[in-house]
Amino acid sequence: MKKYKDININLKDRSYKIIINDNIKDTLLSEVSGVISRPKVFIITDENVAGFVLPSIHKILNDGNIETQVVIIPPGEKSKTFNQLELLIEELVGLKIERQDTLIALGGGVIGDLVGFTASIIFRGIDFIQIPTTLLSQVDSSVGGKTAINMGEGKNLVGAFYQPKAVIIDVSLLSTLPYRELVSGYSEVIKYSILGNKDFFEWLKDNQRGILKLNTELLIEAVSTSCQMKADIVEEDERERGSRALLNLGHTFGHAIENKINTDGSGILHGEAIGFGMCLSAKFSNKMNLCSENDVNQVTNLIKAAGIPSHYSDLNTTLRAVDIIDILARDKKRKDDKNTLILLKGIGKAFIKDGLEDKDINDFLIDEGFQ
Ligand SMILES: NC(=O)c1ccc[n+]([C@@H]2O[C@H](COP(=O)([O-])OP(=O)(O)OC[C@H]3O[C@@H](n4cnc5c(N)ncnc54)[C@H](O)[C@@H]3O)[C@@H](O)[C@H]2O)c1
Repeated sequence: MKKYKDININLKDRSYKIIINDNIKDTLLSEVSGVISRPKVFIITDENVAGFVLPSIHKILNDGNIETQVVIIPPGEKSKTFNQLELLIEELVGLKIERQDTLIALGGGVIGDLVGFTASIIFRGIDFIQIPTTLLSQVDSSVGGKTAINMGEGKNLVGAFYQPKAVIIDVSLLSTLPYRELVSGYSEVIKYSILGNKDFFEWLKDNQRGILKLNTELLIEAVSTSCQMKADIVEEDERERGSRALLNLGHTFGHAIENKINTDGSGILHGEAIGFGMCLSAKFSNKMNLCSENDVNQVTNLIKAAGIPSHYSDLNTTLRAVDIIDILARDKKRKDDKNTLILLKGIGKAFIKDGLEDKDINDFLIDEGFQ
């Protein structure tokens, strides 16, 4: 096993460790035992993940004298709902869960967000551990304690800041992930480099192909650098009152596009929408004379080379600027009826820009090909 390094996320009594390696079997029992208050855990996973990694994890914990119950839910974004939350809590209560027990979120960001939110409200809060199995969840959603479910009115509208007791990452679990999901998660890796680490951006240019071919050492390096950057930002601003908003680079446009396209039924993955959203953010920054055309080209080229949509025409659908503006009007970051976007003063130099008028964004989107 190539063990890399453990990252500590220091949040006073909510501090925890992110363990990153390529063989969870070697560390699972000791890491779980080290953080649970009594030897009983409930693994919550989805139907896809249950098919491959669940049996071995279940066995290791049982063999290690940790009583383990399993709840399997349907995969995908449709499980981040009030309805699924209620079903999950009913099932856990039916299995006689108690306050000292621990939930284990085994899966991608959907499982992590739903299980984290469940942990935050059941018995007014019980412990949970994240074992992320998608690249997106390994570099982003499992770290930092944001948990949420969706409503018809928008994504992640109901949730809580609730930190896990540990995050256990095994990059070898990504070998069964569909390639499109891998690339989608990789978009969040690119995000860290663009928002605050030019050296990492240059490193990604050289190593992107190897990462997407699942080279273990490169993956561990990419995941560790991403998690360390997220840990640093979360330590500084756990509840997103300031700098944590930088992590939303590409997300304001991305969420609006994701929301609109998925309503229309043509389908786009979260990371794909975020990747395109980052291209839009870079282009809008250039339009406002904040960053150079060369910066925009470098950003779009890296995103395009990964196979992520970088231009409106890559979406293969029709989107109206006015619909995107309408969704932006409900954005959590909106202030005084004006928009806030994360923009770039260059690669590695993201900042929060308030006071942006709907009309300017609308005109920009039309220039980019939106109807
Ligand atoms: N909390 C946060 O800070 C945060 C940050 C970013 C994204 N998110 C949320 O994360 C969600 C997206 O997460 P995601 O991209 O991981 O999606 P996901 O959880 O839906 O997983 C994607 C698909 O891959 C399958 N899968 C998972 N691991 C697998 C594996 N190892 N092998 C084979 N198949 C596997 C899943 O069953 C699912 O079908 C969104 O709901 C988004 O809002 C949350």
